[in-house]
Amino acid sequence: MRREWIALTALLSIYIFSTSCSTESNTDKAQYRIDSLVSVMTLEEKVGQLNFPVGDLFNTGPTVRTAESARFDEQIRAGKITGLFNVHGAAYTARLQKIAVEESRLGIPLLFGADVIHGFKTVMPLPLAEAASWDLQAIEQSARVAAIESTAAGINFNFAPMVDISRDPRWGRISEGAGEDPYLGSLVAAARVRGFQGQSLADANSMAACVKHFAAYGAPFGGRDYNTVDMSLLSLHETYLPPYKAAVEAGSATVMTSFNELNGVPATANKYLLQEVLRKQWGFQGMVVSDWQSIGEMLEHGYVADSIQAGKLAIEAGTDMDMMADIYLKKIPDMVRNKQLKVEVLDEAVKRVLKLKMDLGLFDNPYQYSDVEREKKDIRSEDNLKAAHDIAKKSIVLLKNENALLPLKKDLKKIALIGPLANNKEDMNGSWSFFGEAQHPISILEGLQSKVSSTTKITYAQGCNLYDNSTALFNEAVAAAKQADVVIMALGESAPMNGEGASRSDINLPGVQQALLEAIHQTGKPIVVLLLNGRPLTLQWMDLNIPAIVETWTLGSQAGLAVADVVFGDYNPSGKLPVTFPRTVGQIPVFYNHKHTGRAYQGEHEKESLKDRVYRSRYRDVPNSPLYPFGYGLSYSTFEYSNLQVSAAKLKKSESLEVSIEVTNTSAVDGEEVVQLYLRDKVASVTRPVKELKDFQKVLIKAGEKKTLTFTLDINDLSFYNADLKWVAEPGQFEVMVGGNSQETLNTLFELIE
Ligand code: BGC
Repeated sequence: MRREWIALTALLSIYIFSTSCSTESNTDKAQYRIDSLVSVMTLEEKVGQLNFPVGDLFNTGPTVRTAESARFDEQIRAGKITGLFNVHGAAYTARLQKIAVEESRLGIPLLFGADVIHGFKTVMPLPLAEAASWDLQAIEQSARVAAIESTAAGINFNFAPMVDISRDPRWGRISEGAGEDPYLGSLVAAARVRGFQGQSLADANSMAACVKHFAAYGAPFGGRDYNTVDMSLLSLHETYLPPYKAAVEAGSATVMTSFNELNGVPATANKYLLQEVLRKQWGFQGMVVSDWQSIGEMLEHGYVADSIQAGKLAIEAGTDMDMMADIYLKKIPDMVRNKQLKVEVLDEAVKRVLKLKMDLGLFDNPYQYSDVEREKKDIRSEDNLKAAHDIAKKSIVLLKNENALLPLKKDLKKIALIGPLANNKEDMNGSWSFFGEAQHPISILEGLQSKVSSTTKITYAQGCNLYDNSTALFNEAVAAAKQADVVIMALGESAPMNGEGASRSDINLPGVQQALLEAIHQTGKPIVVLLLNGRPLTLQWMDLNIPAIVETWTLGSQAGLAVADVVFGDYNPSGKLPVTFPRTVGQIPVFYNHKHTGRAYQGEHEKESLKDRVYRSRYRDVPNSPLYPFGYGLSYSTFEYSNLQVSAAKLKKSESLEVSIEVTNTSAVDGEEVVQLYLRDKVASVTRPVKELKDFQKVLIKAGEKKTLTFTLDINDLSFYNADLKWVAEPGQFEVMVGGNSQETLNTLFELIE
């Protein structure tokens, strides 16, 4: 029997080889190779190609590892798994690949997957932080570096980018995305796909991107991870779907379904999402993988009665690959034999998996991703660390800088550095950073020390722990503060406080950090707060009382250097918030592109009697406005906006409109500004948001220089999904707003005519 198999494999290889030498187009050839392979596969081999278990290095979800799933060698040899994820290492992956290619009957190579969310061993800033750079080139470069490093260690399939829009900072996974805005989110999603996949998927340093989590995973009720999602199709198309679409258009090879149900149907079996939207409307031809056990979890959702039904509905909807549920492997062969599932449905899924492997070049060169030499050379190379440093400093957002307390002079006599994150390396890597090593990152203390003059003394005091209620370390910190010219405090969240399963009902500083801050404030010393966190926090007290606040997020390997650049003015901060910071948790969801309502209240009704104000859409105890709006961020430069012009008062649908603005750097330092353009469609057949970001430019403006920037708007920028979900532009008045954040803009009007 075994010999027959081997003979068959040999024949097949010759066949495959000969077809690759023919004159047919590459696509036809690939399809031919795939069809030939599928035609000789047993049912068990077919489901093996759809079965994707976690490897044995680390876990990113709940599982009880059975004896069977630990025997990877045997499973690989038997063709029962398509690949493994969360494994890495050139030598290790090569060993497993060899079993697949040389010892399994059909020699089909393995995929090696991983969550390379923000860098591999060179850890990049959290994705939310990177989005704050509004620098698409730097974001693409960061993803490229991640691909170069992880592919050298065997990984060819990356479970990223995560592009879920979120308007809820309680949700811990907001840190993994690009924030709240569909336009910025779409550009970032596409940049990341380009970075991961490089020039061609078949290149040895390109890995397949996997846009996730499809769809609307970022909108769970209450910000609680995995919770129910229920929203109108308009919201879905207008706000949540655009980044997935952009990633697909950028060529993402794969898509991952989400854990949540959407309007009553779990995403993993959601035909509307997977067939109507993804394949039909967007023309996606790649492979769809479930999320971790999400096929099996449909039982818990109460959507299916048993795992047979779960498998059937998932594969029929278009979920090709089963991550961790074992349902396709165990149930589908009998389902096909019993005519519960058409073999054609199974074959389609298998073909998409084989196509992915072929596109990755695995059939031609199965070991190209497992390169011990490249692994030594490419990982944490000087260039990669430089790229990490570059994007880290660009990700920092200056939230407050009263009386230009920052930048600090490098020759101050005494600096007190206080806080649980001040002398901390491990948490600099952030959540979703399984490959980054705890000892690698440059701490804030190390970063600051590397910049100050030889006569400057930095006294470090931890002050408190991140979570507990002990104030035992307060006195030492207060004493250090009293001695100092300036106090720098590094406060925020530890790495595991955000990311998957890390929702919070309260988004204040955890533990006794707020009390520590107040105790240090009592000393009367000037304080600079460095925030380290993966989500917006509520900072009302801090904003009222602390002169300088710097949002440094979680910046990865080069965190300390990037922070020190900003603190001492070697880099002029240029980041802008990709997400709104609420005043209180009770305002959530608070986001910039909300609707107007019929009873809006934006402060302009202040003159009305209290009685009239009652009947406005407002809180009694807090303004409607956020603490820091979307798009907000200061610089050591100051910018003045003037002379907003549109090229025409009226615009035909076939025409485009030029919008120009003058931006002057009124300070004595060169600086970069993210000039943002928002639009409001004043009256439409479905109500439109008060503003929507449509374009931006990040520009360097020299001290004293005035620059004129021009934006071009066309019909696409003026269009929206109407009640029939058609993408239309309707004639009428539009307001165009340009400024340095979503709240402070210059405004003018134009009209769209037929
Ligand atoms: C997460 C995915 C991740 C997968 C594999 C799941 O729990 O939701 O984002 O890719 O685990 O690690």
